[in-house]
Amino acid sequence: MEGAISSPSNARIAVVTGGNKGIGFEVCRQLASDGVTVVLTARDETRGTAAVEKLKGLGLSDFFASLCEQCRSWWGEYLQELDTNEEKFSGLDYHQRLEWMVKNVNETVDGAKECVQTNYYGTKHVIEALLPLLQSSSDGRLVNVSSAYGLLTFINNEEVRQELNDIDSLTEKRLDELLDKFLKDFEAGALEARGWSTGFAAYKMAKAAMNAYSRILANRYPELRVNCAHPGYAKTDMTMSSGVLTPEEGARNVVKVTLLPEGGPTGVYFAKGEEASFL
Ligand SMILES: NC(=O)c1ccc[n+]([C@@H]2O[C@H](COP(=O)([O-])OP(=O)(O)OC[C@H]3O[C@@H](n4cnc5c(N)ncnc54)[C@H](OP(=O)(O)O)[C@@H]3O)[C@@H](O)[C@H]2O)c1
Repeated sequence: MEGAISSPSNARIAVVTGGNKGIGFEVCRQLASDGVTVVLTARDETRGTAAVEKLKGLGLSDFFASLCEQCRSWWGEYLQELDTNEEKFSGLDYHQRLEWMVKNVNETVDGAKECVQTNYYGTKHVIEALLPLLQSSSDGRLVNVSSAYGLLTFINNEEVRQELNDIDSLTEKRLDELLDKFLKDFEAGALEARGWSTGFAAYKMAKAAMNAYSRILANRYPELRVNCAHPGYAKTDMTMSSGVLTPEEGARNVVKVTLLPEGGPTGVYFAKGEEASFL
């Protein structure tokens, strides 16, 4: 840690949100193994500190534990608490596992609101807080952990799809309006009628909005690298361990984007480490 601080010109420092478990924890571990000084953030200080201790136990020392004040909303009822016994998924393929998840997720109005708050507004607020620091770096990077569910193909409404893809005209204000409209239609039970996605509807919409916001930022700050990374379908608490990748494999796909050589692409979506389309 000291070494990194005393030689700031070549120090690489990463802030990882949700770093206490799952893919975020593994991203911390892999970045630290690569010599990056990691600021591990967690919404719960005890869980964050425990994660740092675990990493230190693995012989990795360059960590700061920090509580991310903006990250205080909750998943709430969005995902039901379920048994995470991995054995129940053996023999099920990728699609059967996803189907299982769709069946076992209880999508409520409050849960949808919280999902949008966490995945879109939470991310946005953390970015806003960190932008000045990123801009002071000679190689500032943002990697937003996205999902294949954030692809525009899941939004049936052609007009909305086009708006979200027309990055030169899209504004943050318009994104807010679209998210409000989505939540109103959710509440009115009109998702299908209005052409929104269904099945993990709020998650898909929040990630699609986050992708669009990332592209807006990439345009606005060409000196930064702002990209989105889909880790793949991983066995974590969020997927109730139903995924097909280990958290380590999922994190590797995120870390690969984080550690791209200087001057790499910006405003790009990476699916499992490879450049892909936002559509
Ligand atoms: N797993 C997959 O298959 C998959 C696929 C595509 C994308 N992703 C994305 O990968 C990222 C990490 O997911 P994961 O699978 O590693 O999930 P995870 O193991 O459940 O970890 C989620 C992390 O986010 C934190 N978190 C949850 N709700 C939060 C909230 N309301 N405010 C602030 N922090 C919150 C958790 O903190 P606590 O421990 O305090 O709850 C934890 O640190 C997410 O952005 C997810 O959308 C995952």
